[in-house]
Amino acid sequence: MRDAFLPFAVPWVTARERELVLEALDSGWITTGPKTLELARRIAERSGAAHAICVNSATGALHLALEALGIGPGDEVITSTWTFAATVNVIEHVRATPVLVDVEPDTLNLDPVAVAAAITPRTRAIITVDYAGHPCEYDSLHALAAKHGLRIIDDAAHALGARYRGRPVGSLADITAFSFYATKNLSTGEGGAAVTDDPALAERIQLLSLHGMSRDAWKRYSDTGSWYYEVVAPGWKYNLSDVLAAIGLGQLERFDEWQLRRRAIVERYRAGLAEVPEIGLPGARAHIEHAWHLFPIALDLDRLSIDRARFIQELRAENIGTSVHFIPIHRHPHFRDSLGLTPDRFPVAEHAYARAITLPLFPRMSDGDADDVIEAVRRVALAFRR
Ligand SMILES: Cc1ncc(COP(=O)(O)O)c(C=O)c1O
Repeated sequence: MRDAFLPFAVPWVTARERELVLEALDSGWITTGPKTLELARRIAERSGAAHAICVNSATGALHLALEALGIGPGDEVITSTWTFAATVNVIEHVRATPVLVDVEPDTLNLDPVAVAAAITPRTRAIITVDYAGHPCEYDSLHALAAKHGLRIIDDAAHALGARYRGRPVGSLADITAFSFYATKNLSTGEGGAAVTDDPALAERIQLLSLHGMSRDAWKRYSDTGSWYYEVVAPGWKYNLSDVLAAIGLGQLERFDEWQLRRRAIVERYRAGLAEVPEIGLPGARAHIEHAWHLFPIALDLDRLSIDRARFIQELRAENIGTSVHFIPIHRHPHFRDSLGLTPDRFPVAEHAYARAITLPLFPRMSDGDADDVIEAVRRVALAFRR
């Protein structure tokens, strides 16, 4: 058993991030400024979108996406029950109605058949969730969106760097939201971005992210000088600061290398756990490139004498940290009660929830760390084999 506890995710901040943060701190400009704009430019480039707006979280980006698309009371937005609460909270923030659907068993991504069945005349948008870094089935979802005149917002909190049929996540939806939360593949501590090809949507998101202040008001009223601005909508205060953007710029320099490292750890897990019949491993469909934000395994409970909670406890006793992604939305009291949801409507998510455990996966892990995880999982599986 390993001596030190291995958390399921640890950010990696190096001397380069420290250097860029100090540069921002010493520059005299510590709120939104050149570093935030530079991060936005690079995120747009990397994700194949024409425009990016950096904000304080993926939650903020998703909220502004709905606002920019004019989604509000009376509208329905279809999304997955297999996600973090933020995806659904934002639908409520704009007073629209969340319509939750079940997922596909292999990817735990939105099931296009379930989405089709949930469309009504009130449906305005679909929020896709590229779970763990695996893109959704965008061909099927776009066909549905085109047929019914729906917009697609991609919750790509896990999926920066992923691709679908060669196209980067960021270019697959009307608006895509990325998260730069502490444990994400690229982190600014807290942060996020909205990306889109549509200049009007980009402008609206930009405006709403900072009090609804029209940035180019000074251009139109040049005689009044740069002190002049106009508030053209009751916006929010969702901007990212240059101090945090500096962390992101440092992280971007090593992002590709880190993605390769994630892939190498995944391959190591695959090799080490392939022969453990109690453990199901996450797949990747042939036409996608996975971002490998998470490595969620599925226990075969028919082969084990313990449940998922106990399996997690046993791994904890082996000094291996894990998590569960996700507690399905329909199980949270707020959504269960306000939307009248019952588990029988989500058989795939229910089955997955009883079995899901997220193993540690972060670029800073050594091969030895990964081997410790493999050994611990094998030991627990063997000890409680039925
Ligand atoms: C699927 C999903 N969507 C949205 C979010 C929210 O991201 P943020 O913390 O940047 O708002 C998360 C965060 O973990 C997430 O996992």
